[in-house]
Amino acid sequence: MNDTTLVLSSFAEDVRHGLLQTPKTLPSKYFYDEQGDKLFQTIMGLGEYYLTRCEFEIFSEQKEAILRSFLGKDDSFRLVELGAGDGTKTKVLMNHFLQTGTSFTYNPIDISQNVLDQLKSDLATTLPKLQVEPIQGDYFDALGELNMNHSSKEVVLFLGSNIGNFSNESGQQFLNKLGENLSPGDLLFIGFDLMKDPQTILNAYNDKLGVTKEFNLNLLRRMNNELGANFDVDQFTHFPTYNPINGETRSHLISTTGQEVYIEALDTTVRFDAWEAIHTEVSQKYSPKMITQFAEKAGFRIVENFTDEGHYYVDSLWEKI
Ligand code: AVI
Repeated sequence: MNDTTLVLSSFAEDVRHGLLQTPKTLPSKYFYDEQGDKLFQTIMGLGEYYLTRCEFEIFSEQKEAILRSFLGKDDSFRLVELGAGDGTKTKVLMNHFLQTGTSFTYNPIDISQNVLDQLKSDLATTLPKLQVEPIQGDYFDALGELNMNHSSKEVVLFLGSNIGNFSNESGQQFLNKLGENLSPGDLLFIGFDLMKDPQTILNAYNDKLGVTKEFNLNLLRRMNNELGANFDVDQFTHFPTYNPINGETRSHLISTTGQEVYIEALDTTVRFDAWEAIHTEVSQKYSPKMITQFAEKAGFRIVENFTDEGHYYVDSLWEKI
């Protein structure tokens, strides 16, 4: 069985599971096919999507302090990035690290070899002096591999509030497991989107140009292309919600009419009532207290919190105890 069949079959299984239950759900990881990656790139440049801008501001304005706390008492480290993407923000930090003569190696980890190849060739031209050692695969397998082969301090980056796409429970489990894969003294630098004016959050997930709507609808297009489904995307709309009590932001696709959709790969017909929702994504927003609890439960101490001027976002530096 090759990679494509594997991905396709787990996609098909997850779709079957998600669309035949009530309420209907689909995992947000399936947003990211080639078209989804492009739409997410566009989202990151949108005025309403403040997350990327805030993290960029933190890195640009506070790179000296960030480097000092990465180094601590050591004179070198391994910079390990989970889900590196195109590395735009990380480049701001790494460029500074290189200019100051810091000794470090960059290990981007990603499930997609394609993403890693593109990143490596981009870095070869933009930061030619950088030592890049990409690792393709599952985050935890890759961290295990690094631990086996190296003894230097690891600084793990998990940026972009990617943690927010986990439920709180699975986010805690993920962080616990990350902690188990690190040694005392290793660092985790992790981005969290903070609770703020609910309208600002809702606007970030419902931009005026409708790019986020297209990003969400792309899931239906992906089922049409890869699973032989016959979703009419014009019969669905995008609807985000924010709960200011617990910080949970959710995206939904709503069927605007009663309809039936046939999915060839599953040989199944899925029925939608008018205004029935599919829950497609959680983008959790955090209070400072939630972040402290996450760190403590996973066996870390918080070294320092770096925030943007507006206090919309925090990159929190944790040390494994
Ligand atoms: C990747 N992730 C952190 C983004 C978020 O904000 O939850 C994905 C996204 N969904 C809609 N807009 C952006």
